[in-house]
Amino acid sequence: MNIAVLNGSPKGDLSVTLQYVRYAAAKFPQHSFRIFPVARTIRKIERDESAFQEIIDAVKNADVVLWSFPLYFFLVCSQYKRFIELIFERKQQEAFAGKYTVCLSTSVHFFDHTAHNYMHAVCDDLGMNFIGSYSAAMYDLMRGKERKRWLSFAGHFLDVVNRRAPTPRVYPPLKASPAAYSPGRTAVDIEAQDKRILILQDGQEPSGNTDAMVAQLAACFRGTADVASLMDLDIKGGCLGCCKCGLDNVCDYQGKDGFVDFYENSVKKADIVVFAGAIHDRYLSSRWKMFFDRSFYNTHVPTLAGKQIAYLISGPLAQIPNLRQVLEAYAEFQEANLAGIVTDEEDNSTETDELMAELARRLVRPAADIPLQPMTFLGVGGRKIFRDEIYGMLRFVFQSDYRYYKKHGYFDFPHKNFKVRRMNMMMTTLTKIPPVRRKFLKMLKEQMVKPVKYIAENR
Ligand SMILES: Cc1cc2nc3c(=O)[nH]c(=O)nc-3n(C[C@H](O)[C@H](O)[C@H](O)COP(=O)(O)O)c2cc1C
Repeated sequence: MNIAVLNGSPKGDLSVTLQYVRYAAAKFPQHSFRIFPVARTIRKIERDESAFQEIIDAVKNADVVLWSFPLYFFLVCSQYKRFIELIFERKQQEAFAGKYTVCLSTSVHFFDHTAHNYMHAVCDDLGMNFIGSYSAAMYDLMRGKERKRWLSFAGHFLDVVNRRAPTPRVYPPLKASPAAYSPGRTAVDIEAQDKRILILQDGQEPSGNTDAMVAQLAACFRGTADVASLMDLDIKGGCLGCCKCGLDNVCDYQGKDGFVDFYENSVKKADIVVFAGAIHDRYLSSRWKMFFDRSFYNTHVPTLAGKQIAYLISGPLAQIPNLRQVLEAYAEFQEANLAGIVTDEEDNSTETDELMAELARRLVRPAADIPLQPMTFLGVGGRKIFRDEIYGMLRFVFQSDYRYYKKHGYFDFPHKNFKVRRMNMMMTTLTKIPPVRRKFLKMLKEQMVKPVKYIAENR
């Protein structure tokens, strides 16, 4: 069987994910695994038509396409995202249509599901026969049990292809894009006081209604909002995944392009940050992805904490709940307050204008009027994953995270909570005695509410 491997790591041969592919290739020598480092070579692929065509031809001749990629900021890296855009821009969907396909990722399991949902939807859009996803933790390959699991998955997908078994489509095609947005005269004139407002747009075409939405929102603020386009920014390239930033947050690109300077002086210094862009396939543009990936020089530290943020999205966001989850999770990870998301999906432009005016009002609210929202699973779960990684295996690589997490009380495991430990030990033993167990179960609901009931009634 011919397996075309499209590797999505900027590290090329040094990719951790690629070692999973090599391991499977060694265990299934009867099959041919042809590896293309598409993320590593994206510039060449973009510039040189023949390099792109070589990959497309290999896909055409393959029995299976294996998308292997690391997780980058809730998704794949910007270079891989760009490759996916090129398939659509250069109208090469036919090469992929009808092919069997599987996805393999490595990560620390922080929003691996949103990356896999994205890739699955893209494969469905390409008309591929999607067999399944495999999300390995970075170092799973070191453990016998996990190697067995990976080989069993590989055996399974080879069997599905061999039998030409049917596969279901999971993500319905996206319906037509929203209509043009024609903003009305701005009826609001919002005083931003001394707040610094930054509206960022990607500038990547096609941009849908992004320009009009950005102009309308900016006009709500009495001309005090800064508008910047990522296309005008001097960004040499996507994140290289080198992790040199882990020690002191110094990016390998520092001094070579303008990204860090912009992030430090414009993004971090703003009180309000609005992210605007159009949907490209099932996410925003690869330019936006590059922005998020490059901000990784701050590693796992929230850099927008306490800021007001919002999104202006042109495109069918309502049909892509996975993307909405990524946008919301980003806000929670950043410990920012998400003031709102406005899209151009409303029935008419007047409704969009009204939502935009309301968004502008919310963005400049005085701190005391901002409703304080607790984190949901997105933020709480995500933080616990990073807490454990930074406390454990990744501590020496991400030393600056360790310092920050320690200082800000992120290491909140109940290591030394002797009261809780004593209670757990005592109650576990006591509930083994049948009469105590019966009594315990009878009192359980009452006991569970007791501490909060006390606060509700007495404070
Ligand atoms: C810029 C950047 C962003 C990352 N984002 C995520 C993420 O969102 N979720 C996650 O679980 N791991 C994330 N990681 C960790 C990588 O996915 C992980 O180290 C992976 O195994 C690297 O694979 P590779 O060596 O094949 O590139 C990120 C790493 C980098 C450098």
